Amino acid sequence: MAESKSKQKWQPDKRDMVFFAIVAAVILLLVLGANERKTKPVPDNETHQSVQSRAECMTCHSIDGVKPQPIKHTKADQCFQCHLQPEHWNTATP
Ligand code: HEC
Ligand code: HEC
Repeated sequence: MAESKSKQKWQPDKRDMVFFAIVAAVILLLVLGANERKTKPVPDNETHQSVQSRAECMTCHSIDGVKPQPIKHTKADQCFQCHLQPEHWNTATP
């Protein structure tokens, strides 16, 4: 009697361990992924220090600009959310 009772006590078995491993892996990926939000910084040169708006960025970085964004580039507006703004930049947020 006493023996069968103790068998009902929960103990992590192999399947539980696999489950925990997957949860841990997912959390790790999310933490690491947060850093990948940042990509190439905006160059700290004269052109980039004085740009005022997204529209201005896009005069050079749209499909037919001098330095187009990659084809699959996000349509997101907040350039500086991902591309670190130049150190000597001194205008309003595009
Ligand atoms: C007058 C044209 C012009 C404007 C306006 C402009 N850029 Fe650029 N951008 C360039 C050129 C040319 C390059 C490539 C040469 C270089 O590194 O300077 C470049 C390069 C870049 C790069 C890539 C850097 C790398 O390491 O490859 C990023 C990111 C970038 N620009 C973001 C921006 C953002 C954000 C804005 C608006 C705030 C902007 N640019 C406005 C001309 C422009
Ligand atoms: C959600 C994040 C995100 C936002 C917002 C964003 N970008 Fe990017 N951008 C990227 C990533 C990621 C790349 C690819 C970098 C690589 O090739 O390593 C990239 C690449 C670029 C490149 C090409 C760099 C090169 O060396 O070829 C340019 C130019 C650029 N972005 C301009 C812009 C401009 C202008 C804006 C604002 C209108 C903007 N990006 C907003 C993530 C973003």
